[in-house]
Formats: sequence, C-alpha cells, structure tokens
Amino acid sequence: MHELAKNFTPVAPPQIIENSYSDDQHSRLLKVVRENGPWPLILAENFKTPEEVIATTSGTLPEGVTLTWDMIGLNPVFRGYLARGGTCFYPEIEDCYYNSRYLDLVRGYWDCQYAEPETFLFNIQGPTPIGGPPHLDGTVFRGMTMENTPLWLLLTMAKSCLFNHWRSKKAQVISWYYKGQIGGGFNCWPDGPAGAPLQIQAPMWGRAVVVENEMMFHHGQATGPQSLRKPAGMDISSTFGADPNDPTGWQIETFGQINQHIPAEEMRFLVHWGARLFKDLGDFKRTYDHSDDISADQAINMLIGDMQTRGVQFEVPTDPLNDNNFVGLLARVYDIGGPQNIPADAVD
Ligand SMILES: [Fe+2]
Repeated sequence: MHELAKNFTPVAPPQIIENSYSDDQHSRLLKVVRENGPWPLILAENFKTPEEVIATTSGTLPEGVTLTWDMIGLNPVFRGYLARGGTCFYPEIEDCYYNSRYLDLVRGYWDCQYAEPETFLFNIQGPTPIGGPPHLDGTVFRGMTMENTPLWLLLTMAKSCLFNHWRSKKAQVISWYYKGQIGGGFNCWPDGPAGAPLQIQAPMWGRAVVVENEMMFHHGQATGPQSLRKPAGMDISSTFGADPNDPTGWQIETFGQINQHIPAEEMRFLVHWGARLFKDLGDFKRTYDHSDDISADQAINMLIGDMQTRGVQFEVPTDPLNDNNFVGLLARVYDIGGPQNIPADAVD
C-alpha cells in the first residue's frame, strides 16, 4: 500500500443511529422517488469516460489500452438528487433536508460550531454485485467544488494529501432501507485501509451512520440473489423507476425495453444527507469571503510539481483537464491502494 494511504481515517469513528427518518418522512421520500423518476445510473452522472472511472477507484490503466463501458461493467445502482446547497428540489421533503437533528449530530461529530446542509441524494437498486472496490467520496476544497471541478480531479487532489489546507470539513448521515435477506449492508474502514473493516449489516430499516466518507474507505455490499445481480442488456443510459403495473414495485429500463422487474422487498434505498462544517466564524468567513481559495491552475501546477519531485517522467500537458493520458498518469502516480481485507460477498 502507498505511504499516503495511512492518512485516510475519518475525523471520528462512525456513529450508528436508528429511526433516521420518521415513517412519515420515509414515505414522503419514497413518493418523491416514485413520482419523479426514472433515475440514471450513478456512473452516467459522474463520468464522461471510462478512464475517469479508473482514476477514482485506485485502479491502474495499462498504457495503450482504450477502455469501453463493457470492460468496466455497469453496476446497476441508480441515483437521484433531492437537494443541493441551499435549495431543496421537493418542498414536501424540506423537513428531511433542513434537519436540525442531523445538523446537531454532525456538529458534534466534528466538534464544530456551525454546519450547513450541502447534499441530499439517494441510491436505489435491486440485486447488485458488490459496489466496486472500497472508495473515497469526492472531497471539495475552498475554491474547487463539484460545481467547477471534475470528480476525478477532486479525488486525485484528496489522495495526494497536498491540499489539506483547503479541504472542506464534511460529514454525512447515510440511511438504509432494505428488507432483503442477502447482503445489502455497508463495509467501511474507520481505522484506515490497513485496519479491520466495520460491517453494518442488513436487513435495516431506517438505520443510519454518521461518517466522513471523504476520509474513510467504504463500499456497499453485494445485494440480493446472485442470479439477479447482473441484468442483461444494460447500457450507460439505463434507468430505474416505478413499475407502472405494480404499485410498490420497480423496474430497470434500457432503450424502451424492461431489463428487470424488482419487487419492493428486493429494493435497496439509501438516503445520503451531507453537510459542510465550519470550526468557528473565522473558518466560515474564510470560506464565504473566498479570501483563501485554490484554483484549478494552482492545483494542477502543484500536482505537476509534486510528480516532478517524485521523479516521474512525463510531458507537461497543454490541456490537462481534458487529456486522458494525463488523467491516467495521475491515477497511476496517486494510486494509494485501498483495503485488501474485503469481507466475502453475501451469497444465497
Ligand atoms: Fe461512497
């Protein structure tokens, strides 16, 4: 494992809570999901090319290999956004987002004076293979966020540990609703990638964990019957939505064809609530006054300088943000590895 990997431990151990949303909140959340779908694959939202996927998963790309979506494999996990920043997209779930209980939890988790809700999204799926190798969630930095920077660059910056001065303090409350009997839980490495994994096991209904997933390797467990985990005919454009012929069921659809029907009891629903923390008023002002921001140019130059210091041989790119060779190079140099002690898949 890379020397940098040992830096990846969360600010505090994960805290498990129950009844994360009330029954009423949960049914309103699910109603929003049924009525506003269908929803795209997670991969379709975050990545333009397969190379960018590799850059986020600590993988390496042999030189001269051109990746295709078929080679990557498309895990049938889908996502939708419920809120971003100060705006909740669905007024009927505003109480879930502007959530005093959660704000209090994350302030305590970080020992910070202030918190603001920042992200609210869900993952929805039927039976699926394990959620890829353990990974880190996208970090943001003062001046560089999901709004102006590709995810692969934010993750590379995080892995390099060169940018901690600008890194945001973040925490999440991740909730699960899954009644299935096979897998469907969560694996994480709160003591770092060399430490023992913590498994939060399904079935769970409104269990949640307070975490810092930007600094803790984690992934979803394989879920549901093995024979149903890889529906045939998937594409990057596949969607997940309510089954019009089943009032509680769901379906995966691709190019107008139904790939799979998913009964309610095999559906796994994850609600991700994320917040940004500020130690005190000075920290808050530094962020909102933009008095100490970093720019993409400065970040790229620091990465280039660091690679030169490390003795990496490469040609300095003219358009680094859109250069797949450069993206691949960064992925190799800052391939910090990840946990090797991955618990075995749940099987039926
Ligand atoms: Fe994640």
